[in-house]
Amino acid sequence: MRLKRLELRAFRNYAELALDVGAGVNILLGPNAQGKTNLLEAIHVLALARSHRTSNDRELIAWDQESARVKGEVERRHGGVTLELELTARGKKARVGGVEQRRLSDFVGRLNVVLFAPEDLDIVKGPPVVRRRFMDMEIGQTHPGYLHDLLQFHRVLEQRNRFLKTADPGRSASGELDVWNEQLALYGVRMMRRRERFIRKIRPLAGEIHAGVTRSAETLTVEYKPSFGTAEQVAGEDDSSLIEQFMLMLTQSKEQEFRRGVTLVGPHRDDVRLLIDGRDAQSYGSQGQQRTAALSLKLAELELVREEIGEYPLLLLDDVLSELDPARQAQLVEAFRSRVQTFITTTSLDGLDLGRLEDAVVCQVRQGRIFT
Ligand SMILES: Nc1ncnc2c1ncn2[C@@H]1O[C@H](COP(=O)(O)OP(=O)(O)OP(=O)(O)O)[C@@H](O)[C@H]1O
Ligand SMILES: [Mg+2]
Repeated sequence: MRLKRLELRAFRNYAELALDVGAGVNILLGPNAQGKTNLLEAIHVLALARSHRTSNDRELIAWDQESARVKGEVERRHGGVTLELELTARGKKARVGGVEQRRLSDFVGRLNVVLFAPEDLDIVKGPPVVRRRFMDMEIGQTHPGYLHDLLQFHRVLEQRNRFLKTADPGRSASGELDVWNEQLALYGVRMMRRRERFIRKIRPLAGEIHAGVTRSAETLTVEYKPSFGTAEQVAGEDDSSLIEQFMLMLTQSKEQEFRRGVTLVGPHRDDVRLLIDGRDAQSYGSQGQQRTAALSLKLAELELVREEIGEYPLLLLDDVLSELDPARQAQLVEAFRSRVQTFITTTSLDGLDLGRLEDAVVCQVRQGRIFT
C-alpha cells in the first residue's frame, strides 16, 4: 500500500500542508525542531488514530488553534481510500471516504504503518508497559476488533479498581466483584489469545531476520509471558477453561487486591520476553544487541503485516538509519528496498548510504514547510 497525498491543517507546527508523496523512499531532511518527526507522527495518526508519542491529542493541535486535521489519500491493492481525522479538545472525528465513522476501530487499520524510532529501543530495555504497547499497536492495526476488546477491558479494569478501593471487602462486595470478574475475564482472555498468536507468528520472522543481521552469530527468541499460566496454555486451552482459570486467579488474589486497591492478574500485567542466545536481552544485552533485537522485531512486524493483510505497510524511520552501523543499515535497506514505501527522517545525508537508496526523494523540512 502507499500514501499518495497528505494534507495537514494546524497539526503541530504545520499550519497548512499539501504534499504529494513519492512512491518509494522519501527522505525528510532538515535541522532539529523543523517538523520531521511531526510529519511521521501525522502519518501514524492516520493509521492508528493516535500518536506514537503522546496520548494527549491536544498536543497535536497547533498551539494557537482549536482543531487540527489530517487527511490522506491511500492506495491499496484493492483500490483507494481517503482517510480524514479531525482533532479537537473534545475528541476526534474520523472519516473514511468522507463518511464519518461511529467507532474509531472502524477507521484504524485502513492504512498500516511500522514505525521505528529511537525510543523503540525501550521495547527491549524498558518496562513491560512498552512491550504491551508494542503488541497492542501491531495487533490493533491488523485486527481492529482487538482495539474494541482492549478498550472494554480497560473500562472494566478501571471500574473494578475503583470498586476495590472503595468497597468494604465483606459479603455483599464479593457478589458485585464476581460481576466485574466475569467481564474482565471475558475481554482479557480474548486479548491474551490475540497476543499469544501475535508473538507466535512474529517469533520465526524475528529470529530469521536477527540471524541475518548478526550473520547467524546470535539467536533471538520472543516469548509471550501472560500474567498467569503459560503461553502454551493460552494457545491450547479453550475459552471457557481460560476464563475459568482467570476467575480462579482473581478469587485467589482477592484479599490482596482489596488491600492494595488494584487488580493483580490480567493482560494489563502481561509481558514479552526477548532472549538472545537464551539469555534475557533486557538484563544482559549490550546496547548494540538491544538495538539489533529491536530492529529485528520491527522488520519482522513489516513481514507479519504483509502475511496478515497481503501487502506491505508503510515504513517510518525516525532518526534511526544514520544511527546504525553500515552492516545493519544495509540489512534494513534490503528489507524495504523497492517494495515498501518508506519515510526516513535525518538531519544530514552524511551517515546515509544513498547509493543503496535508489530513487529516493529528498524533501527539505523547514519550520513546518516542505520543499521538494
Ligand atoms: N502543538 C504544537 N503547535 C505548534 N508547534 C508545535 C506543536 N508541538 C510541537 N511543535 C513544534 O514542532 C517543532 C518540531 O518538532 P519535531 O519533533 O517534528 O522536530 P524534528 O524536525 O523531528 O527535530 P529533531 O531533529 O530534533 O528530531 C518543535 O520544535 C515544536 O516547537
Ligand atoms: Mg525528530
